[in-house]
Amino acid sequence: MIPITLSDALTLPCGAVLPNRIAKSAMSEALATIDHKVSDQLVRLYEAWSEGGSGLLISGNVMIDRKALGEPKNVVAEDESDLDGLKRWARAGTKAGNHFWMQINHPGKQSPKDLNETAVAPSAIPLKKEIRLFFRDARELTETEILDLIQRFGNAARLAKQAGFTGVQIHSAHGYLVSQFLSPLHNQRTDRWGGSLENRMRFLMEVYGAMRAAVGPDFPVGVKLNSADFQKGGFAVDEAIEVAKVLDAAGIDMIEVSGGTYESPVVATGVKPDQKASTKAREAYFAEYARLIRNAVKTPVMLTGGFRTDEAMIEALTEGDCDVVGLARSLVLDLQAPAKMLRGESFLSLVKPLKTGIKAIDSTGMLEIWWYGRQMTRISNGKPPRPSESPIYAFVATLLTKGAQAWATRKLRAN
Ligand SMILES: Cc1cc2nc3c(=O)[nH]c(=O)nc-3n(C[C@H](O)[C@H](O)[C@H](O)COP(=O)(O)O)c2cc1C
Repeated sequence: MIPITLSDALTLPCGAVLPNRIAKSAMSEALATIDHKVSDQLVRLYEAWSEGGSGLLISGNVMIDRKALGEPKNVVAEDESDLDGLKRWARAGTKAGNHFWMQINHPGKQSPKDLNETAVAPSAIPLKKEIRLFFRDARELTETEILDLIQRFGNAARLAKQAGFTGVQIHSAHGYLVSQFLSPLHNQRTDRWGGSLENRMRFLMEVYGAMRAAVGPDFPVGVKLNSADFQKGGFAVDEAIEVAKVLDAAGIDMIEVSGGTYESPVVATGVKPDQKASTKAREAYFAEYARLIRNAVKTPVMLTGGFRTDEAMIEALTEGDCDVVGLARSLVLDLQAPAKMLRGESFLSLVKPLKTGIKAIDSTGMLEIWWYGRQMTRISNGKPPRPSESPIYAFVATLLTKGAQAWATRKLRAN
């Protein structure tokens, strides 16, 4: 068998072809206008990424409801009021002939307190005390609301296709709403949406069904799935494998494997709660789980989290851990990295651990999101990223900016 290389094309189940095996994974840009429309900054950022060589770009999470945001300045895809903006974004992100998929999301209980007036979740179970302060306690969704949310996911997918995106991805990872439904810890419903794994995955499958119905059989629909939540009593890899099998049978086009939640931010560091500090971790945080999932399905598997060298990416492809490698932070610090690797140059990521020295800040994934968010903002303004930026400075500056943006968002809603 000829080993797979980074530059090999990949045909997806729907027939679409990714031109190579490198993907930019979703990163919430928080660069929309204050009323959630596509901005010039987003257009510039994605033009730059498109020219960077990735076969697939996945947008940062786009929200299905302007009253349920993950961050201020999220793009919202609810109706056709900004179809022209979405078209400009889609054109920019596909400039070099690569794929550009819209990631579609709802925060559920990971709903910032200063931003949203209410929060909803499968069950009214608060987040753990260390982070509960930042989020609004959620109430349980009603059956009618669940059905409405499913239609909203489908509607966002329809808008994405209409705007010229070349695919869509369901965000079913990192503790957001869809992954809350999968979790036995966060979903304690006793109706058809909770209890058995079959019931807990019903929301994801209905969301997939609504999105597939909206875009048709020839259009890529992918999912970002947690291999595990890394929480006691939470969603674990044996269940992730079962969910992957059902998605495979239903015709999903790609399963991106990730892990963790805000309560257990493994995705930022790769350090699992049960792991001894001395254990030498593999570069790719979730490689062993991705391989288990890939062995159980026909659907192509994308693996994201921790890739820092071309050697590790090639190893993951040739050893059968995955079909596509996903990169996030590395592509903020080096936008041209995929093009360089595809030319055969070696790659060493500039990503380094970020620390402020304050445990309460360093133990959440927030610092990474905010520090890289600042670098994306620089790029979107035509400036280079600043790898040497002080983490504590970035944290405080973002705290103030986000506070002001949340206030402006609430004010706009009130008018
Ligand atoms: C600034 C930032 C924003 C992120 N936003 C999202 C998001 O919107 N959706 C998502 O699925 N993952 C998001 N992630 C997680 C990344 O997609 C990725 O899984 C994680 O950074 C690990 O990959 P890496 O080690 O290559 O950075 C975000 C990460 C960062 C740093």
